Formats: sequence, structure tokens, C-alpha cells
Amino acid sequence: MPHGGAPTGGGTVAGVAIDVTPLTPAIGAEIGNFDVSTAGDSPADVAEVRQALLDHHVLVFRDQNVDREQHKAFGRLFGELHIHPSKRGPDAKGDPEIFSVKADENSVRNNGGRWHSDVSCDDMPPMGSILHLKTAPPQGGDTMFANMHLAFETLSEPIREMLVGLTAYHDGLQDLRWYGYEPQPGFSYPATSHPVVVTHPDTRRPLLFVNPAFTSRIEGLSDHESTALLAMLFDHVAQTPTLHCRVQWEPGTLVFWDNQCTQHFAVWDYYPHKRHGERVTIAGTEQPQAVGAGGVA
Ligand code: SIN
Repeated sequence: MPHGGAPTGGGTVAGVAIDVTPLTPAIGAEIGNFDVSTAGDSPADVAEVRQALLDHHVLVFRDQNVDREQHKAFGRLFGELHIHPSKRGPDAKGDPEIFSVKADENSVRNNGGRWHSDVSCDDMPPMGSILHLKTAPPQGGDTMFANMHLAFETLSEPIREMLVGLTAYHDGLQDLRWYGYEPQPGFSYPATSHPVVVTHPDTRRPLLFVNPAFTSRIEGLSDHESTALLAMLFDHVAQTPTLHCRVQWEPGTLVFWDNQCTQHFAVWDYYPHKRHGERVTIAGTEQPQAVGAGGVA
């Protein structure tokens, strides 16, 4: 369960529990008294972080001075690191375990500038992502997050019942093309089907698992049925503020989100200024599992 207390920023006080301060009733918490750079030394604190992630889904750590190796080591405390599809090609450049997030005066899109969960087109989508901000714009550049358990639970019962049992196609190429890219010859981007309503691997709580970046159609429906149903679900997530929290970043802010039960939207309101961060992503361990009949796990 969450602990009370104000966030303390980076730095762990040995033997003292981490501080967890919720951001909203629905999603997000600021974590204090925890130093990401030395996290591996404190298994009990890491267990508390894991529990806080299950409770709040998005964790914000302030003033974290971590280098790449410490960032990756923190990620590995929660699972194997995931390689982004753009880093799986023969000509991929740079550290495959580091995904750079950058926008500046030359950008035509920012990374993650629409609601999505990371790489939902993978057979086993990532369990979580950890973004460490290096450069922040003078104002703006916030990230919005949505709780996808609540997104499902706040739909009406007839719609929930209709969604259970449906599957949707998640297409990595759709996302790649949104950024204006085409795959290199001989290089295929992942695409797969997942149930529309899945259960969280740890809690088995149901959640809505479609997003506008990757989900291209609901299978078994006509084109106009699929388009209308997806538009309704995407609008529900975007237009229900009680599902959301909004994180403001500074250099050194590190955010760990549970990619299985959240979506996020990186707001690009700072052009022509620069925002840059590095993301480490944790591999998922199972294919998304369908919820049982009637909408319960
Ligand atoms: C992303 O991982 O989608 C980018 C998030 C962000 O830049 O805040």
C-alpha cells in the first residue's frame, strides 16, 4: 500500500521506507527517499517500488543522477531489457537497449505525441518503460498518462460485454509511418493480434488494450464498424480526465510506467525548443491474456 509523506527527491536513507505520494486518485505517484543509481543495493526498497508500480502504475523519481549503465541496471531489476523494433534492423545504430527520445527545432514529430502504450505491436509487449530526462524545454514538454484499468471499468456494461471476446490488430508499420518513415528493404516491423480486453499479468485486473498509435482494426467487424468502435474507445481515453495524470519534467526526472496498464501522450508544446531523454524498456513476459466472459478475470 502507498506510504504517506512528502517526496524527498533523490537519495536513499538506509533502512527507511521509500516515500510514495499519489499524484491523482487514479494514477501516478512521486517517489522519494530512493536513489535509482544504487537501487540494486536495496532489494527491500526495490520490492516497495514494484508494489508502488502495481498500486499507482506511473512512478516519478526526481533529481536522479544516473548514467546509462545505472539506468539499464535499474531496469534489469524488473526484468530483461527490451530492444525497440527500430534497433533490431541490420543497420541499427547506437546502444540497442537505449531508446532516445528527442525533439528540437528540426523535428516534424515528437516521440510518443499521441496516446499509446509502447510497442503494443510486439507479441509480448513491454512490461514497462523508464525514461530519464536529460534536457527539458523552458516550459511544457509534459507527459500525460491514462489508467487503462479505469478506462475499461468506466465504460457502460453493454459496451464492456461487447468488447470481451474481440481481438484487434496492432501494426508497427502504422506507427512507423506516422513518423514519416518506411522500413528499410528486407526489414519487417512487428504486427500481431491481441484481445481488446486483457488482464494485467500480475494482478489479473482487466484493462482496455487498444491504442491509436498501433491498433489499426478490430477483427471480425466491417471496416466502418471497426473504425467507429475504435474511435469511440480512443475518444473515451482521451476525453476522460479522471483517468489521467500529467507529469512535468526537469533534467534528472526519471519516470517508470507500467506499460501493460497505462497509455501515455508526450505533449509537444515547446517547439522550437529542445527536449531530450533516454528510455530503457523492460521486456514483457507473456502474451496479453484475454479477460474471461462477462468482463471479469
Ligand atoms: C515515449 O516513450 O513514448 C515518449 C514519452 C515522453 O517523451 O514523455
